[in-house]
Parts: sequence; C-alpha cells; structure tokens
Amino acid sequence: MTDDQIVRLRELLTESGYTLDGVRARLGDTAAAALAREEVVPALRATRDTDPLAALIRLWWLGVPVPEAVLPAAGGLWTELGAAGLLTADPDGVRAAVHLQPWETGGHVVSDRKVRPGDPPLRPDHVVGAGGASANLAQLVSTRPAGRALDLGTGCGVQVLHLAGRTDQIVATDVNPRALALARLSWRLSGITEGVEARQGPMFEPVAGERFDLVVSNPPFVIAPDDGLVYRSDSHGEGADSFCRDLVRRAPRHLAPGGRCHLLANWLHVKGEDWRDRVGGWLAGTGCDGWAVQRDVQDVAEYVELWLRDSAEHGGAGYRQRYDAWLDRLAALNATGIGFGWITLHASAADDPVVRVEELTQRVELPVGGYVDDVLASIAVAHRAGDADLLAARLRLADGVVEERVGPPGAEHPARILLRQTRGLRRTAQVGTAEAALAGVCDGDLPLGPLLAAIAELTGTEPADGVPEPVRTLLAEGFLTL
Ligand SMILES: C[S@@+](CC[C@H](N)C(=O)[O-])C[C@H]1O[C@@H](n2cnc3c(N)ncnc32)[C@H](O)[C@@H]1O
Repeated sequence: MTDDQIVRLRELLTESGYTLDGVRARLGDTAAAALAREEVVPALRATRDTDPLAALIRLWWLGVPVPEAVLPAAGGLWTELGAAGLLTADPDGVRAAVHLQPWETGGHVVSDRKVRPGDPPLRPDHVVGAGGASANLAQLVSTRPAGRALDLGTGCGVQVLHLAGRTDQIVATDVNPRALALARLSWRLSGITEGVEARQGPMFEPVAGERFDLVVSNPPFVIAPDDGLVYRSDSHGEGADSFCRDLVRRAPRHLAPGGRCHLLANWLHVKGEDWRDRVGGWLAGTGCDGWAVQRDVQDVAEYVELWLRDSAEHGGAGYRQRYDAWLDRLAALNATGIGFGWITLHASAADDPVVRVEELTQRVELPVGGYVDDVLASIAVAHRAGDADLLAARLRLADGVVEERVGPPGAEHPARILLRQTRGLRRTAQVGTAEAALAGVCDGDLPLGPLLAAIAELTGTEPADGVPEPVRTLLAEGFLTL
C-alpha cells in the first residue's frame, strides 16, 4: 500500500471512531465482554444499525460481509484496499481479508482473520492477532526509556507499538515472512515509520553478534505435538518447553550491560521434579539476575482444550483424535501440568547473580513494567548487601503495606500476623512479632541495627547476630525498602 493510502485509511478509522474506546462504547459492556471471550453474537446484534462505526466493526473485527452501501464514504479507498488484497468481494458485499483491530496504544494492529468455530483449518503460517498474551507481555516490560530494543517473534508487530516512543531503535524479528509483512502494515497504520527494522529468521539468528538494552518476546511457547502452526509452537526444536529454555539461555549474549529481557513462557510440570528447579535451572548460569513468576498452572486436559479452542478445532471433525494425540505427547513427557508465566533477566554484571522463582497468582497492579525495576532491585539488594551495610541502613516500610492480625475473637495474642501490600505485586507475608514490630518502626529514621536491638530488648529475646533471614526476605519482597 502507498503511504497516501495508509494515511487515508488511518484517518478513516480514527474519524469513524474505530478506536478501542470508540468500539467499546459502541458495543456496550455485554457485547464487548462477550467478544473478549470470542463470542460474536452480542456484537453482531449491537452493530445491526448501518452507521459507519458499526460497518467498520463488522468488517474489520467481526469478519462478516458488509454491503458496500453501508461503508463510510472514502473516495475510492475501498476499491484501492481491494486491489491491495485487504478486502475481497463477497455475494453480500465485501469481506476483510485481514483482521484489523484498534489497540490500547492508540494504534491499529493487522493480523490474519480471526478463526471461528466451523472455519477451515488454519494455514501453517497464520499470523495471530494481538490478544491477552500480547497485553500481558506489554504490561510486564520495563517502562523506562531504552536505547536499542529487540522484539523476537514480533508476529503482528504489536509489541513495537508499545516500545516505539521510548526506545531509539527497534529490531523486530520473526521466522514467518507473512508476519513481518503484516507487522509492517500495523506499524505504518499506527504512524510508526522510523526507528524500526524487520528481520526474518529463527531465534537470535537475525541479530547474531548484536546487543540490546531491552529484549522482549512473546514466543511460540505452546507445547504441542507436531502442531505445524508457527504462531504458537516451534516445530524445529526438541519440542516440549525447550524453545523457552533456549531463549532464556541465549538472551544474555544479546543484552548490553544493564540490559533487561522480558519473556512470556510455558514450562512443564513433570512427575518427580519441582517446577521451580526446572525454571530455576534455565536461569542459573546465565550470568544475569533472573526473576521467574508462575502466574497460572493448568492440568494437561485444560491445556489441550485451551489451545484446541484457540485454533477453533474445539468440537470439530477430528477433535477427539487431536485431543487424544496431544495428551499422548504430554504423557510421553511425564507432564502433570503446564505452568504459564513471566521471565525477566537483568544483565547486572554482578559477581553473584541472584535467581528468584516464585508463584504469584493474585491480581497485581498494572503495569508491572512501571515498577519491575524496583522489584529486581529489591531482590538483588536483599541477596547482595552485606550484614554491616544493612544494619547501618535506614529502612522504610513500603508505601501501601498494611498489617492484618488473625485469631480467635478476644484472644490476647493473634494466631497469625500478616503484612499485605496493597500496591505493586500485592504480596502477603506471614511474619513473627519481631518483624511486625520492625515494620511498625521502619520509617527511615533509625538504622536497622539499633531498631533490631531495641525490639529484642522489648520482646525479651537475644539480639540476632547479623540480619535475620526473615528481614532479608521482607526486603527481597519489597515490604521494606532501602
Ligand atoms: C505468540 S506469537 C507473538 C506475536 C506478538 N509478538 C505478540 O506479542 O502478540 C509468536 C511469534 O513467534 C514467531 N516464531 C515462531 N517460531 C519462531 C522462531 N523459531 N524464531 C522466531 N520467531 C518465531 C511466530 O511466527 C509468531 O509470530
């Protein structure tokens, strides 16, 4: 498409209200929520009127034919879009050949048409649209400005929409040339015309020998048997979760000093192995500080159903056989479940890198990227600071930490004392009386050493030698800050 056509299409979309807020307002809460579950009927009902926005929602988002007479006037642009291959003729009017959706950054994302139940099987090089996982990664990525950024497996190009404006230069790679073509269209339609370069190739091959301040990837992490669908699983590797493992192990070679890498990943839960050891093993030896978070874990059947639904195979011909074969594959891997989560690496250049692997299933404050650097810093300082330095430090209770005392009504002493973060990762820690007392007096006024001594005296306990482990844990988890 020519630059002029792109500009005219962008203007048409914006002027017709085809923005995220415009579509939400036009559909209403119920239809918008149903659409988020991939149910189109309420949205079709909400767009029965023939106003321009309804026509654009039907055409680009719902993927149904639209009579030419109801399309907004665009001075020949519709014919030009047909010639460019974005529209096809249909007995009932015209039909979109791609899915074109407004995105939360204010731009638009172009991908292959959404697949719905009853559609023919997906082509192997299907380019998936921006969705929950894309938003999940975008929310995790550090929001601080970065020089050079890499988006590995860019697909429809959505991560670039988030990175543009806070990075100087972006390299976006994908093994699928069709993805790169659609990604370029997404960027141009979103007004990103400079500072981004698309390169084709697998894994880190297109950026051999190069380093970046920021690496992001929503990779083809799905653990599937001979799936053939490039958007979700890597058919060239060993299968299982090896693509994510290799990504973690190879990323450090492409990080500039101080650089960050944020990935989404799936990992196997294998009989007889703690998943923390598996993922921790990926991170150990990278030379980077690492933080891995399990956000969800599914049993094998839930997992297979999720991904068969994703490719609209749910309930279709051959469904049971595909389901069965997939379970066979997971059984052969001794899988008891599949974890989903975030992996972050920081090229801190520390002599003794720290790796933290944990499960966080609660709702967290978004975007995590707004405070992820503080999370990494807390983990690192709790691991590396010497006792003398910490005892001399004036710690503060983090903003928004509250205390909860739980026990039988009227009891003199609580059975449990909990510290809860009302902000950030919203962690909860069960603490002893001494740590609760410490949290109550950490206001940055007195150093930790004298505070611990005073608390020991008050509680009639022996003062600890050095910094007690529970205090380091509160520091690592961001309840106390330096
Ligand atoms: C889940 S999609 C991610 C799309 C997009 N980045 C997002 O956040 O929504 C994964 C992408 O990785 C690409 N991919 C698959 N195998 C790859 C490989 N070996 N190397 C690089 N990219 C690959 C796929 O073509 C697909 O576009």
